[in-house]
Amino acid sequence: MNQKIGKLYGIGVGPGDPELITLKSARILNTVDVIFAAASTKNNYSLAVNIAKPHIPDKTPLRMLAFPMTKDEEETQTAWKDHALTILKELEQGNDAAFLTLGDPMTYSTYAYVLRHIQALAPDLPVETIPGITSYQAAAACLNTPLVEGEESFLLVSGVKGGDRLRDVSGKPENVVFLKAYKNAGDINAALEETGLFKNCVGVMNCGRSNQEIINDISKFNTKTPDYWTLIIAKQKK
Ligand SMILES: C[S@@+](CC[C@H](N)C(=O)[O-])C[C@H]1O[C@@H](n2cnc3c(N)ncnc32)[C@H](O)[C@@H]1O
Repeated sequence: MNQKIGKLYGIGVGPGDPELITLKSARILNTVDVIFAAASTKNNYSLAVNIAKPHIPDKTPLRMLAFPMTKDEEETQTAWKDHALTILKELEQGNDAAFLTLGDPMTYSTYAYVLRHIQALAPDLPVETIPGITSYQAAAACLNTPLVEGEESFLLVSGVKGGDRLRDVSGKPENVVFLKAYKNAGDINAALEETGLFKNCVGVMNCGRSNQEIINDISKFNTKTPDYWTLIIAKQKK
């Protein structure tokens, strides 16, 4: 039996532009024995693989892990645990493995959940997480708009439950970013109005990809649900 245990790398591939992957991630992708990425249960497609493709040698095996899009907590936990076991099996054979994530691996990412399961199963496993450029950093850069300046604060929230997370801290943050701004965009807009942030907000869809769109008037999200890959940057001051 092979005694060497492989190392797990959590790799952030950035938001879409293959040039926004770090040199470190590109180097590691060239050396690992196997690459894992999350895919939907409906198909094998992974945007993260597509972005990282120029940095992945042809010979490196790619293994897609199907994650169910479900609200069922038990089903989700089972999928994370099963995938943690699959990755661990590969590492126990002495193979180094990378797990790809879009943007940054520690920002609203499946990697963090799978990593928790892996570390529970193998607490001494060598793990290195390589940060990636987040979607909202790329969006601020493409708008040539600072995210925060001077003594300002910054709030990053999920829009899955609409605008309530913003209402909770109403009036406090000077700058807010909503990720996952797709489902409840109408309520997010209402919360931005209520907190005085609606006057300076921009939607960015598919940042850094060929279908990138900048939406200066996000009131149109009230009538047309935006794409999943949508974020909103809102500021008290321009
Ligand atoms: C599960 S979170 C993943 C965040 C990612 N780990 C990051 O660092 O940006 C998914 C949400 O991120 C945002 N997102 C990710 N990539 C994006 C892109 N290229 N353009 C716009 N929004 C993006 C969207 O709001 C999407 O609903």
